[in-house]
Amino acid sequence: MAAPKKLYIKTYGCQMNVYDSERMAETLGAQGYVETATPDDADMILLNTCHIREKAAEKVYSELGRFKGLKEANPDLKIGVAGCVAQAEGEEIVRRQPMVDLVVGPQSYHRLPEMEAKARSGARALDTDFPEEDKFEHLKARPKAQRGPTAFLTVQEGCDKFCAFCVVPYTRGAEVSRPVARILDEARDLVERGVKEITLLGQNVNAYHGAGPDGGDYSLAKLIWDLDKIDGLERIRFTTSHPNDMSDDLIAAHGECKKLMPYLHLPVQSGSDRILKRMNRSHTAESYLRLIERIRAARPDILMSGDFIVGFPEETEEDFQATLDLIEAVKYGYAYSFKYSPRPGTPAAERQAVPADVADERLQRLQHLITAQQTEIQQSMVGRVVNVLFEKAGRLDGQMVGKSEYLHAVHVTHPGIRAGDIAAVEIVEAGSNSLSGKIL
Ligand code: 5AD
Ligand code: SF4
Repeated sequence: MAAPKKLYIKTYGCQMNVYDSERMAETLGAQGYVETATPDDADMILLNTCHIREKAAEKVYSELGRFKGLKEANPDLKIGVAGCVAQAEGEEIVRRQPMVDLVVGPQSYHRLPEMEAKARSGARALDTDFPEEDKFEHLKARPKAQRGPTAFLTVQEGCDKFCAFCVVPYTRGAEVSRPVARILDEARDLVERGVKEITLLGQNVNAYHGAGPDGGDYSLAKLIWDLDKIDGLERIRFTTSHPNDMSDDLIAAHGECKKLMPYLHLPVQSGSDRILKRMNRSHTAESYLRLIERIRAARPDILMSGDFIVGFPEETEEDFQATLDLIEAVKYGYAYSFKYSPRPGTPAAERQAVPADVADERLQRLQHLITAQQTEIQQSMVGRVVNVLFEKAGRLDGQMVGKSEYLHAVHVTHPGIRAGDIAAVEIVEAGSNSLSGKIL
């Protein structure tokens, strides 16, 4: 038997890319590839890229530059670019970096085996189509490899919202939901392989409307209730949601479904109605706050997380202050904040930018406020008992790390605890990024 070829995949960006990289590794696994941890001895290097902000895209080109020496030393090495930069830039990648052999957009991963063969034959392989067929159906899994306790599962992809700053509707395409039966099959398979917690992924996951067994549309809440029935699956999460798609049944599920964890990532982007309108977000700061009130009425201890953009074109100090006010009102357990980055082809890219120093200064002030809130919430966990799903060994001897239901990282030092165990832990200390506690 021929020695396996080595595949090095580097993943940038969101959790959906992490999921896609796993699927690509499995598909190429069926072609005789095994994953390797460094590019140095690889037969194929695949960069799974992100185009959401300028910096993310530029990183890809500088990373490609670093592979030049490897390619010269080994002409059989094949280099591929996948993901959203591949989709957005297409042939431009090959023009800027002629040593790239393969460019594959996120909707064409199931065509990787043919593309790999084409690249091996010395031709260049390029595919950035939006094909009709379900790519996940065609992505072959390796036979039953054991998995860690947590996994991602893509249920929905693409976005029809067209926020004025965002490339996702262009790079990932229109909203598509996978059928319920396929998702349930994949979830059962994950559980058989040791998974205890599944995070359902979608760019607009709460807009999920996949075909149910009787042909009718399913909501995300209905899908969650079906997953709830799978024995051995202990925890369900989902991300990322749009405020306008937080339906009543999903809010109710947060109160009633024991396996659905009390954590919700609900990006708002800005607290200024004027800016929200220019962002084409089709909600207001007030409607977002009322929505959170309803969610907290259903699940009082839910931990909220959000995304913010500062320095969006025409953002004034007053607009920015409204964002800080909204953050004060919500109290976030986690928040991700970004300086606005103009993306080619999006409506906002044409507009007058806020000076970089002003945007930088606002980002700092916003992050300061968020850090204060996060720290306060982490501190308030001391003395409380949480349930932790343990994932792996910590850095210290005998230490294990896992996540609480609120997604806080929790450390314990306890002999007997194994990855995959869920245990009640009393929190005794809060650090800046994690909590530590003792098993009860
Ligand atoms: N500039 C800055 N941040 C952006 N995001 C999306 N597009 C841009 C952009 N052009 C942020 C949003 C989104 C998160 C995934 O990335 O906050 O929710
Ligand atoms: Fe981008 Fe999210 Fe807006 Fe869709 S809803 S356009 S993915 S920010």
